[in-house]
Amino acid sequence: MILRAITIVASVALVACSSALARQDASPAQAPETKPTVPAALNFKMKDIDGKEINLAKYEGKVVLMVNVASKCGYTPQYEGLEQLHQRFAKRGLVILGFPANNFGKQEPGTDEQIKEFCTGKYDVHFQMFSKVSVKGDDICPLYKLLTDPKQTRGSLGEINWNFEKFLLGPDGKVVKHYRSKTTPEMLIDDIVVQLAKLPPQEEKIGSIKSIEGPKVTDVAVREYPGLQNVVAYHEDFISGSAPEGDDGFEALAGMGVKTIISVDGAIPNVDEAKKFGLRYIHLPIGYNGFDEDRKLELVRATRDAIEDGPVYIHCHHGKHRSAGAAAAIAVSLGWLSPESAVARMHISGTAPDYKGLFACAANSKVIDSSVIDAVVAEFPEVSQPHGFVKGMVEIDEIAERLKGIEQAGWATPANHPDLVPVVEAGRLADLLRFLAASDRVARESGDFASRLNESQKLAQRLEDLLIDGSRDTTHLSAQYGNLNASCNACHAEYRD
Ligand code: HEC
Repeated sequence: MILRAITIVASVALVACSSALARQDASPAQAPETKPTVPAALNFKMKDIDGKEINLAKYEGKVVLMVNVASKCGYTPQYEGLEQLHQRFAKRGLVILGFPANNFGKQEPGTDEQIKEFCTGKYDVHFQMFSKVSVKGDDICPLYKLLTDPKQTRGSLGEINWNFEKFLLGPDGKVVKHYRSKTTPEMLIDDIVVQLAKLPPQEEKIGSIKSIEGPKVTDVAVREYPGLQNVVAYHEDFISGSAPEGDDGFEALAGMGVKTIISVDGAIPNVDEAKKFGLRYIHLPIGYNGFDEDRKLELVRATRDAIEDGPVYIHCHHGKHRSAGAAAAIAVSLGWLSPESAVARMHISGTAPDYKGLFACAANSKVIDSSVIDAVVAEFPEVSQPHGFVKGMVEIDEIAERLKGIEQAGWATPANHPDLVPVVEAGRLADLLRFLAASDRVARESGDFASRLNESQKLAQRLEDLLIDGSRDTTHLSAQYGNLNASCNACHAEYRD
């Protein structure tokens, strides 16, 4: 049954013919409870996914993105991009409203509870979700009736054709643009930023930041902060952990007094978000098998110089393996920790034993003479782009080849390739896909290219997670790997071949 979240009388259709074009600002007479000046598209009361009534009028003065969503659609992975938009722009005034609808291909058959379970469970959605509505046909809800009527809503393309169409509303509550499903959330960024720029300037973030206690070198367990996981100190002012998530992560770092963030992850760092909190980035990616002497020297110099300004945070993706290995090697090189205590702190960070190369980097480090460090060129990029898209694909393919050998050996190190560590290869693959997912190429491609790449990245991540957790279920591992290969082929079929 379709739950119709309608608390108002749908009289829009009756008045539409008379003063059609002028209606966008006019307040329809169907909602006498709301104040008369509310913009038409926000002059509705709707039920949220828990059944609580929400008056859309409260979003006036925000930039609003309305999306009709569904759980079983080819576009469903767009949830991920939408959540990223939410994480990135919510504090600057973007509100995303998700309206589940079962109008297309019966791809949203579930109850509100099931939908909520799905989007929070699978996609960790934090933006506002509503109770299921109809967005087309005889039982269309009044909001979508208004949005899809080009006579009443300037910018509307008319009827909704499929799941995951979007309406962007400016701070004045007027529809700016209607996008079809193929326009990915990432592709909306420019338009969203233009609308956000119309909002009154936000009060300065820096200054209002609450100071919080950072981790201590004496901690024997990881600490968690909002938007940060696996946080471990390798020196009183040198902290390793996960990539900061959203405003919360950067705010927590600023609260600890951190001034510089060093990313050793392949993914492109969120430099803009960091800047808002007065934090600067240095991007020096490393591999899962450790790093060479040149990269180590760069990391050592970058850390030594940066710590003069204040605490330094070093991160990879999870904050367990690569950033811990780098932090340990740096701390030994700068004479802060002995190799033994550095390795002990890697165990606290949770570095998996399989990452032998990372442990070796720490264990084999020695104090580096300051004259050697001084000789390193101190020009470190905010964003480092080591791979072009094609080069990245070639590297991905090499790893995929090695994983094939690993699969044939029963998801273990192949006898003829004693150097191959399954979890390391899977991790590299996930890292490269993450990197490519944030590359310029994605911004230039249209359609579902970005979400396909995200999907591949997630599958690689899942394979890595299974291997980290020590799964020996070869059937399950092979099935995961099969899904990953299928996702490569599906994208190639559409965008390459
Ligand atoms: C989102 C789409 C997408 C996904 C997912 C994807 N690829 Fe690709 N891949 C491409 C495109 C596009 C090209 C062509 C690049 C070009 O020539 O500009 C390409 C090129 C390649 C190439 C040829 C590189 C060369 O020498 O020109 C290989 C090999 C490859 N991909 C392997 C993989 C593997 C393995 C995976 C999965 C783990 C994968 N790709 C996932 C889009 C994708």
